[in-house]
Amino acid sequence: MSVNLFAGMSVNLFAGMGSHQSARSETNTWFSPPDIVDALGGADSFDLDPCSHVDRPWATARQHYTQEDNGLILPWFGRVWLNPPYSIALITKFLGRMAAHDRGVALIFARTETDPFHRFVWGAASGLLFLRGRLNFHYADGSRAAANGGAPSVLIAYGAEDRDILAAAPIDGAFVPLRLNLSMLMPVLLPTWREALADYFAGRSEPVTLAELYRAFADHPKARANQHWRDKLRQVLQRGQFERVDKGLWQRRAAA
Ligand SMILES: C[S@@+](CC[C@H](N)C(=O)[O-])C[C@H]1O[C@@H](n2cnc3c(N)ncnc32)[C@H](O)[C@@H]1O
Repeated sequence: MSVNLFAGMSVNLFAGMGSHQSARSETNTWFSPPDIVDALGGADSFDLDPCSHVDRPWATARQHYTQEDNGLILPWFGRVWLNPPYSIALITKFLGRMAAHDRGVALIFARTETDPFHRFVWGAASGLLFLRGRLNFHYADGSRAAANGGAPSVLIAYGAEDRDILAAAPIDGAFVPLRLNLSMLMPVLLPTWREALADYFAGRSEPVTLAELYRAFADHPKARANQHWRDKLRQVLQRGQFERVDKGLWQRRAAA
């Protein structure tokens, strides 16, 4: 995806290697900093790197595909490490495969507004880690490029397992969770059972029957998320803040 900003000047929306000022940047063969892969569990924790090179300085996964193999047409399996070649056409294809595969971590430039980013990252990933500062990638001999990659990078988790790994990884940056379902948000957004019951009793001057409590909480989101919510409600009633005044009849304990 190149746009012509001014006559004679075009900008690749995914390019970021400009600052390297090297013919090598034309080859798409920049290697990921090994400490990033290590911080995500190490090369042995990834089953496949679908776009690697025979001259790689170190492993990034247990198995690697190269350009000669064409990782776009071979089967993908297990946990995938993906740092795709720096061409918009290839990034789009590899990210599309990654989104469909839905397990692993990708490293790309944080071009968050572009169409592939919307389709295959915002619309498919489970979490993002926007890195602080810019990465210095590596040459095939393992040496680190003097200049940084020329653009901000983001690590992208696919699948719930890699969202958790990325969230906990010792990598400096800002983590953004995506695709959270209600059961994950519940503990953060909803009151605890103790708070919900305390609120209910606060509006009542008389003791309340268990049957009344069951009716009152039947449509509560916490009840809808837990098929054993009646057990949970009774359990909370028996803990300190409430007292049984008769069989099946409860009130809030008076403050001491
Ligand atoms: C940015 S480098 C990343 C290398 C390595 N994955 C890493 O993380 O260090 C992208 C690599 O993809 C390779 N590549 C390009 N097209 C490919 C294809 N169709 N299938 C597999 N690998 C490809 C390039 O040769 C290059 O080594």
